[in-house]
Amino acid sequence: MPNTIRAAITAVGHYVPDTVMTNHDLEKLVETNDEWIRTRTGISERRILKQGATSDLAVPAVQMLLKNRGITAEELDVIIFATVTPDMFFPATACVLQEKIGAKKAWGFDISAACSGFVYALSLGSQLVQTGAYKKVLVVGADKMSSILDYTDRNTCILFGDAGAAVLLEPSADPSLGIIDHKLYSDGSGGDYLYMKGGGSLNPPSADTIANKMHYIYQDGKSVFKVAVVGMADVSAEIMARNGLTGADVDWLVPHQANLRIIDATADRMGLDKSKVMINIGRYGNTTAATIPLCLSEWWHEGKIKKGQNLVLASFGAGFTWGAVYVKWAY
Ligand code: COA
Repeated sequence: MPNTIRAAITAVGHYVPDTVMTNHDLEKLVETNDEWIRTRTGISERRILKQGATSDLAVPAVQMLLKNRGITAEELDVIIFATVTPDMFFPATACVLQEKIGAKKAWGFDISAACSGFVYALSLGSQLVQTGAYKKVLVVGADKMSSILDYTDRNTCILFGDAGAAVLLEPSADPSLGIIDHKLYSDGSGGDYLYMKGGGSLNPPSADTIANKMHYIYQDGKSVFKVAVVGMADVSAEIMARNGLTGADVDWLVPHQANLRIIDATADRMGLDKSKVMINIGRYGNTTAATIPLCLSEWWHEGKIKKGQNLVLASFGAGFTWGAVYVKWAY
């Protein structure tokens, strides 16, 4: 008997903190200007979580999702939490979230794949459903990037913001709809270009790691840009080709929001009109694992995603990690 179970996204939710940090606010902290940030990145403002941790970005997002689906947290089987800013190294933020929302029957774990965390987690979660082992898998992408940013480093502090978002995966009522395909990559030789060196077993926290600012993000933006722009476009084109999709077949590109120029290059490569690309980087900056589910939830809540539509989700991030997921929207 062929396996006919397919995983589908059946609910979405998101949360962005109230506190807005504009480009003009950053002009007071580092030598930069609104025009440079907007033209080089597409970002005008980002949100900052003043109090609380990454799990606190996830809780309201998951509560929105549960309400939309009309289920309780106790019905969840698995929690997969993608983040590079876990509340703590351990326990996993998935377990922290489990406790905060009361998902008493679930088990869960974190995924560290930076900006590709959500596409990795979604791909993995879909396999857990497809095997028939689990019926309700919560996939969360959330990052409190402000907790690891050096607000004296103009190369990084202008780029990132805080947000949380989540999707629910369940067996699809119609096996022709749901998560159709995924293609994931990583290349560890990219590790020198985007990292946070301090705090782990290599460089445990010390006065030296603090003095050397090793608990902050470091990024060689120009080098990352060159590979990101190729990597995200290539993997999007690859997933289209192997599923026989042309630009006309794709209803939405849901790209990781790192830089508007990378998003534009990916859309061009896919032969997509800008009107088919989900873009909210202007308001939130790069929220790492949250960008893609945040787009999905915002667009769905605005009634812009329709059942049966073809979505290509695509990301590129630290590691390097990159990938794409082809989704036929199921509800
Ligand atoms: N404000 C004003 N000027 C700035 C600046 C800032 N915030 N940051 C850098 N500059 C200056 C640089 O010093 C440089 O000046 P110089 O020409 O006199 O040396 C100039 O602007 C160009 O800098 P550069 O780093 O070449 O800019 P860029 O066009 O590459 O844009 C990024 C920088 C970070 C926006 C871009 O490289 C990027 O988006 N990288 C990839 C991000 C990504 O995808 N990450 C992976 C997922 S997280």
